[in-house]
Amino acid sequence: MGYPVPMEQSLPDPNVAFGDHRCPGPSYRDLVLRDETGVPAPVLESEYRYRGSEPIGFHRYTSKEFAELEFEKVFMRTWQWACREEHIPNEGDYHVYDVGQRSIILVRDPQGKIRAFNNFCLHRGTQLKPPGDQGNANRFTCPYHGWAWSTSGKIASLPCRWDFPHLSDDDLELPEILVDTWGGFVFVNFDPTAQPLHEYLGVVPNHFQGAWDLSKRYVELHIKKRLPCNWKAAMCAFLEAYHVYKTHPQGLRATGDANAQYDVFGEHVSRFMHTSGTQSPHVAAAQTEQEILDFLLGRRFAGLEGRPIVPEGKTARDVYYKISNEQLANKYGSDYSEFKVADSIDSIEYFVFPNGFFFPGARICINYRFLPNPDNPDECTFDLLFLRLPAVGQPAPAPAKPYFLDINDSYTTAPGMDPGLGGVFDQDTDNMISQTRGFKGSMRTAETLGNYQEIRARHLHQTIDEYMARP
Ligand code: FES
Ligand SMILES: [Fe+2]
Repeated sequence: MGYPVPMEQSLPDPNVAFGDHRCPGPSYRDLVLRDETGVPAPVLESEYRYRGSEPIGFHRYTSKEFAELEFEKVFMRTWQWACREEHIPNEGDYHVYDVGQRSIILVRDPQGKIRAFNNFCLHRGTQLKPPGDQGNANRFTCPYHGWAWSTSGKIASLPCRWDFPHLSDDDLELPEILVDTWGGFVFVNFDPTAQPLHEYLGVVPNHFQGAWDLSKRYVELHIKKRLPCNWKAAMCAFLEAYHVYKTHPQGLRATGDANAQYDVFGEHVSRFMHTSGTQSPHVAAAQTEQEILDFLLGRRFAGLEGRPIVPEGKTARDVYYKISNEQLANKYGSDYSEFKVADSIDSIEYFVFPNGFFFPGARICINYRFLPNPDNPDECTFDLLFLRLPAVGQPAPAPAKPYFLDINDSYTTAPGMDPGLGGVFDQDTDNMISQTRGFKGSMRTAETLGNYQEIRARHLHQTIDEYMARP
């Protein structure tokens, strides 16, 4: 289908209320309802309301004072994922999670329970395990004077104990942090009065069931990259598909970008969903389903023998999802029979406040985490994970170790990274550099957001404000 009015010239209808305007043409929902497999139930849900059009001040991204307060009020009070359960499968396995100036040791204790302890010595403060460390230990020993703790957080050794008659064993227990799991992720919360994780996650545990159960997957690839912008600016680059037509035009002939669906589910969760295998509303010329399929396969399956044909009455999506899942099954030996068209090939992205992104898709099976840099609000750390289903009947491989990239390193240089996708992430990084210059140099002091396509960015800022307003 083509679009009669070029999108650049499409104007808002003055008779429609703010927040009710939508892209001309079919919606994401219209498109998936044509899929031959039917649609996963969560995909048919929708939840949007207008949340105002006020500008968002740039100081929120650049101010050191704002960053410090935000850390105390947001990161110290919210559930954030620290590692995967498979990072610490056995007794004594530990994993260090660093966030801001804080550091936590996650460890599997002798009872098989995951515990989270303050990673600093109770003697004179020294960090026990180095940042980013992981391994197996039966005690955590301070490198300075040798105080040591068991994997249950009890004091296990204190050289010259005679000199500390003022301290009891109870005084010497490592402070413990709340920990819980969902979807194979280990979450922590520094606030001992925090609401339970499963309540905090809102619709997410309900939606991520069956084929979407992330606890069945393993970390195939983990890239850790320093990014040249505030953690919120980096996240906002992934919260909307509005930028796709300008920043990533290479896929527009088969990407439903401007007609993506945006949802906000309660306080902590938002979502977008956009198609693969339908043309962007920005592409004015109508293409046949066959042309869309040829474009997709030409980009992603160059050299494929024979030319799959879209049968009469079927769509490019119907054919593409089968090819895509067959290719995945051949490569990974895993079973994709539970997946429908939408969750096989579309970009379905859930955000969980403050910094986690979870994709249930078979093909786009990624996960993001953004961590603020405690010393510099203009930088952050980005964890990019690919979560795959293991081969049928096989144990999951051990989780991939992180591969580090600095600001100027291309994602395409990470071993195992798909070059096309790596190029897409590089395009996003370029924007982050230019945008941060604007935060500091522009004659305007705030950004303006689209009412629908950028609702998730507004919701993020509003939720931060709510947390910052709490005593
Ligand atoms: S600072 Fe840790 S043992 Fe002294
Ligand atoms: Fe992007």
